Amino acid sequence: MNIRKVETNKKQYLTLLLLADEQENMVDRYLERGTMYVLEDNGVKAECVVTDEGDGVLELKNIAVEPEFQGRGYGKALVDFLIQTYGGQYHVLQVGTGDSPLTVPFYEACGFQRHHLVKNFFTNHYDHPIYESGVQLVDMLYLQRKL
Ligand SMILES: CC(C)(COP(=O)(O)OP(=O)(O)OC[C@H]1O[C@@H](n2cnc3c(N)ncnc32)[C@H](O)[C@@H]1OP(=O)(O)O)[C@@H](O)C(=O)NCCC(=O)NCCS
Repeated sequence: MNIRKVETNKKQYLTLLLLADEQENMVDRYLERGTMYVLEDNGVKAECVVTDEGDGVLELKNIAVEPEFQGRGYGKALVDFLIQTYGGQYHVLQVGTGDSPLTVPFYEACGFQRHHLVKNFFTNHYDHPIYESGVQLVDMLYLQRKL
């Protein structure tokens, strides 16, 4: 398994990016200023994008694993890589997500704890309702873990 930074043509991984964030113009808000990594294990299996949010906060803006390879530790391997790479440079790794049983338990398994809500984020910023597990996402839940 190898994790490498993607310097150019980040949009070649758009299919993966849209798995985590289904509206392309929302991805465009952070993709260029973000630092992107892909995890390779007989081909690219997963990606993530992080941004510097100031005040020692690193934000995980996007993380996705190819559907047929989910549940095999690739997502956690990317988070562990970020902790190793950025530990000491930043105080906190944070992530914003819908309050969904598909994602929150993953972040909790990676050591994140619920921190705060941004009310109506999904209804205000996306041009269509977003559903996960049959539930409409309304507020953005931020989780944090120490770096
Ligand atoms: C969420 C996602 C990145 C997780 O990656 P993954 O490779 O499937 O997860 P891992 O196999 O590394 O799981 C790591 C841990 O989280 C737990 N976990 C992952 N998903 C879970 C779920 N839905 N419910 C409960 N636990 C879960 C695993 O059991 C594992 O726990 P362990 O370390 O105690 O064994 C991946 O499923 C994905 O790409 N989903 C679609 C895109 C998406 O929703 N991205 C996040 C947007 S905010």
